[in-house]
Amino acid sequence: MLKDKIQNIKAEIESLKAQSVDDAEALRIKYLSKKGLVTALFDEFKTVPADLKREIGQNLNELKNLAQSRIAELKERAAQNVKVETVATDLTRPAVNTPLGSRHPISIVKNQIVDIFSRLGFSVAEGPEVEDDWHVFTALNFPPEHPARDMQDTFFINTNPDILLRTHTSSVQVRVMERQRPPIRSIFPGRVFRNEAISARAHCIFHQVEGLYIAHNVSFADLKQCLTYFAKEMFGPEVKVRLRPSYFPFTEPSAEMDVSCTLCGGAGCGVCKGSGWLEILGCGMVDPNVLQNNNIDPNEYSGFAFGMGVERIAMLRFGVNDIRHFFENDVRFLRQFQSA
Ligand code: DAH
Repeated sequence: MLKDKIQNIKAEIESLKAQSVDDAEALRIKYLSKKGLVTALFDEFKTVPADLKREIGQNLNELKNLAQSRIAELKERAAQNVKVETVATDLTRPAVNTPLGSRHPISIVKNQIVDIFSRLGFSVAEGPEVEDDWHVFTALNFPPEHPARDMQDTFFINTNPDILLRTHTSSVQVRVMERQRPPIRSIFPGRVFRNEAISARAHCIFHQVEGLYIAHNVSFADLKQCLTYFAKEMFGPEVKVRLRPSYFPFTEPSAEMDVSCTLCGGAGCGVCKGSGWLEILGCGMVDPNVLQNNNIDPNEYSGFAFGMGVERIAMLRFGVNDIRHFFENDVRFLRQFQSA
């Protein structure tokens, strides 16, 4: 019976689903196209007896309207779903954060040292880590019997005692004086090597930054002014500085610079061993012998030099109490410098 078919197709249409616009279009073709199921019912309608035509005709029209509106609605909803999908792959959304590594604290402090001195007009130069005796010792006025040349401090190359791993970056002073005439205003960051037992305070490999300024009329006052500026930039404007007389073969007079203890502010604590002061660098006026060794006339030029350990500065800056942390590279240690 046509009436039953209308009922069945109505039930079918009411439960239709479409995942996509294409699905919905396939349904339209299935029910409403020229050869569609609903259209076919209209053909059959011709055979309906006259007395039922009015009722069944109405049912048929209702079915057609239902099919049209239902399929149109499915199409509309499928189209909206596509829009939602487009939002889900929005290319303007920020990317998922990939965790980045952090800079090593030694690099952070080295970069800060370079930055501070570059504001005073110092350029950066580097030299070789494997050096010869001349550049590490002799040109720097080390007497032949000086203990720094001792086998206990210096790593020598077995087959040639003239070749060694540099024990300080002062060797780069010599390299620079060889190829450049004054004025010279440079710093030399780099790795150095000493045959020392590894402990909380000492390591056999560490980093230094050396500085050299040679020009006309350079005085000890210039040295003090320059290094005081450095200390205040590095440790803060409230830090106090003092210079103590010292000895280095390549400077005369020589001094060591202390800053007021970064932990207790000078009152005295375990870190400064109760003295209130911490040594941060060695310095002095370039010895005339060193200038002469490098063919610079000490009667025309004078200069100052300084050298500091990067690990030491980093330990004071960040409150690190064991130099070995810098070389173990435990990520739990390194991560703490992410924002430094
Ligand atoms: N080279 C010295 C060292 O390794 C540090 C140093 C001291 C460098 C005084 C200098 C200086 O230029 O003037 O301990």
